[in-house]
Amino acid sequence: MSQSKVSQSKESLLASRVGELVANDFRTAHLFSQYGIDFCCGGGITLERAIKRFDADEAALLEALMAFETEGDKQQGLEQLPLPDLLNYIESTHHTFVREKAPLLIEYSEKMVRAHGENHNEIKPLAGWIRALVDDLMPHLMKEERILFPAILGLHNQVEMQNCFGHIGNPINAMQYEHDDALQIFEKIRELTNGLVPPAHACTTWRVCYASLAEFEADLKQHIYLENNILFPKALALTA
Ligand SMILES: [Fe+2]
Ligand SMILES: [Fe+2]
Repeated sequence: MSQSKVSQSKESLLASRVGELVANDFRTAHLFSQYGIDFCCGGGITLERAIKRFDADEAALLEALMAFETEGDKQQGLEQLPLPDLLNYIESTHHTFVREKAPLLIEYSEKMVRAHGENHNEIKPLAGWIRALVDDLMPHLMKEERILFPAILGLHNQVEMQNCFGHIGNPINAMQYEHDDALQIFEKIRELTNGLVPPAHACTTWRVCYASLAEFEADLKQHIYLENNILFPKALALTA
C-alpha cells in the first residue's frame, strides 16, 4: 500500500463517526472497548474527537483499525441485514454468548470468594455484582425472545398480533432501561476492579475472571449497541 493511500485511509478513519465504524464492522467494538472509547452511547462523535476525549493512543488504534481493513474478511455490515436476519443474528450470536459465559463468570467469582474473599475487600462485592448482572440479563433475554422479538417480526410481516403491551415503543423503552442498568453494573465492576486490571499477586482464576469480564463487557456493549441503535429504530420505523 502506498504512503498516500495509508494517510488517506487514516484521515477518513479519523473523520468517521465511532458508531458508524462499529455498525460497519463489529470487530471494532472490541477494539474500542480495549482503548476505553465509549461506542455505545457516545458513538455519535468522530474517531478523532473520541481519541482526544478518552485519551486513547491514536497511532496504535489507527494501526489496529487499518489491520482490520487489510485483512479482507470484514464482517458484513449488520445495518443492511433484513430484520428477520438481524433478529436471528442477535439471538444466535449475543444471546448464546451470554448464556454460555454467564455461568463461567459466576463460577470464577465464587471460586475467588472462597480463596481470597476474606483477605481482599473487593472480591465479595464483585461476586455480588456479577450475580446481579446475570440475574438481570437472563430474564431480559427471555423477554426479548418471547415478547419483543416476535412482536417486531409480526410488524415486519404485517401480521396482526394480540399483545398486552400496546405500542411496540413500550417494550422497547423497557428493554433500553434494562440495557442501561446492565451497563451501570459494569461501571460498578470497573470501579471495584481497577478497570479490570488484576493486581500483581492475582492468581490464575482471578486473572481469567477479569479477562472474561472484559470479553463479556465488550460483547454486551456490541449487543446493546445493535439493539438500541439498529434494531429498535428499524422496528419503530415500521409503526411510523
Ligand atoms: Fe438482546
Ligand atoms: Fe437487550
